[in-house]
Amino acid sequence: PKVTIVGAGNVGATAAHIIASKNMADVVLIDVAEGLPQGKALDMMHMRSVEKFTVKVTGTNDYADTRDSDVVVITAGIARKPGMTREDLLGVNAGIMKSVIGQALEASPNAVFICVTNPLDVMTTLAFRESGLPANRLMGMGGVLDSSRLAFAVCEKLGCEPADVTAWAVGAHGEGMVCWPRFTTVNGTPITELMDEAAVAEVVQRCVKGGAEVVAFLKTGSAYYAPGASIAKMVEAILTGSDEVMSVCAHIDGQYGIDDLYMNVPVRLGKNGVEEIVEFDLNADELAALQASAESVRAGLANLPE
Ligand code: NAI
Repeated sequence: PKVTIVGAGNVGATAAHIIASKNMADVVLIDVAEGLPQGKALDMMHMRSVEKFTVKVTGTNDYADTRDSDVVVITAGIARKPGMTREDLLGVNAGIMKSVIGQALEASPNAVFICVTNPLDVMTTLAFRESGLPANRLMGMGGVLDSSRLAFAVCEKLGCEPADVTAWAVGAHGEGMVCWPRFTTVNGTPITELMDEAAVAEVVQRCVKGGAEVVAFLKTGSAYYAPGASIAKMVEAILTGSDEVMSVCAHIDGQYGIDDLYMNVPVRLGKNGVEEIVEFDLNADELAALQASAESVRAGLANLPE
């Protein structure tokens, strides 16, 4: 298989590295910066005999080289600096997304597309409107990362191992994020039975602020190791048709009482991309929180240039 990654910056290159290391697919890195994708691709090819992967990584500035990709991941765009929210990136990144999606789609008309550029829910909606792609073949990466940050916070709090934790963070990929403690489990036991309310609130906050915590340390940009791994996880599910259920920014069409909106929800991810949006059995408070998160995404969409 062939995977194109648009944007050879921190997130794009990290995803490329993980996809290649796991021997999932040939990877094409494409960027507007001349030399950057070529240099990083060559560096990864030099790593091949150390890590013993057999797939190829190439770098280019020309969409012709991305032709007939199975999956296209879009990471092109600016990242946040300390004090910025993801929403502050909208103006610049909307222009980049518009220029990228058409060219990438023309070269790979049958691919499954994963948007990563922030603000995620708005950028994925923009790509959907611009491309005319069927909803199953266009999604965003946000919820896998947010859920893994929640899992990390649970592990830190309870001293448990990642393999024992299943965590669910859904909703807007931003300040309006929603965690589902009742469905977040350690060896099958909900964390609501393993810690008191204050501790649950603490791990939820750690998850919601996780991205900002990294930005505050780095100062020069935002997270990329966990985002890269989360992209690779989604690519793997699509290429192998694993049908694994994970939190994905998908086009919600009536599920959870939400209409025509891109936001993270549990999705069965497989060969055709979003195979199904899975509806968890929410209580009234959980449903209200998810719908409020949807409203925060709609508010962001109002700022999208026509
Ligand atoms: P970066 O600055 O390291 O890399 C961005 C790359 O995009 C640069 O190499 C730049 O030359 C390239 N680029 C700009 N315009 C382009 C165009 N028209 N075509 C192709 N390439 C273009 O930024 P980083 O850290 O890789 O972040 C990328 C994006 O991903 C940001 O918008 C960031 O906010 C977002 N992000 C999203 C996450 C998520 O969970 N959805 C997690 C982490 C980052």
